Amino acid sequence: MRLDQFIANSSGLSRKEAKHAIAGGRVRVGNDVCKGASTKVAPDASVCLDDQPLSLPGERYLMLHKPAGVVSATRDSDHPTALDLLPSALVRNLHVAGRLDIDTTGLLLLSTDGQWSHRITSPRVDCPKTYRVTLAEPLTDQAARNLESGVELRQDPTPTRPAGVHRVADRVIELTLSEGRYHQVKRMLAAVGNHVEALHRERIGNIRLDPTLAPGAWRPLSRQEIDSVW
Ligand code: URA
Repeated sequence: MRLDQFIANSSGLSRKEAKHAIAGGRVRVGNDVCKGASTKVAPDASVCLDDQPLSLPGERYLMLHKPAGVVSATRDSDHPTALDLLPSALVRNLHVAGRLDIDTTGLLLLSTDGQWSHRITSPRVDCPKTYRVTLAEPLTDQAARNLESGVELRQDPTPTRPAGVHRVADRVIELTLSEGRYHQVKRMLAAVGNHVEALHRERIGNIRLDPTLAPGAWRPLSRQEIDSVW
């Protein structure tokens, strides 16, 4: 397909605007700026407009660096939502695959593909999520062992599944969970007598938050990231 057609179909720009963007050097194919509107590209070519990767319509898969103060729900009467941070041309039928609390920052995945999202959120599928947790108090060795083997949460008789604990600094740990109960990280740390001061999701399965994304920024997932979930 022609490059101007690819840009128009994938970005919401008109064909004329796409041609202008190409002529203005705003489009890269692979690593190179491409100024030829009639250049032929494959449907799965790596095409960027203003450094944002584009993909043709079909199912959509995005990562967002969720800032604090934004809710993961798609609608909220009091707070901005994750969808408010995306271009309106992209939001139709998008849902969040694995919510975060309003004060939690980091990796949020959004998709139109319900089966794909189910693989991320279903307790029957082992899809580990890693959080960077800033604590009120240094984690004791006993508390770390308890988190690793499973703890009982308030008003929940089933102990948590074994978790991964990695110490990063005096009051900072990385905690890896393979389930996603309501406020799970905060409740697990409360169960071992500590308190979460800040929470940031770094990874879901094999998908890591892109370090080039500032809070509030997003990008489409690469084909490799999408396929890593199946
Ligand atoms: N656990 C929590 O307590 N909050 C989140 O946002 C995610 C996991």
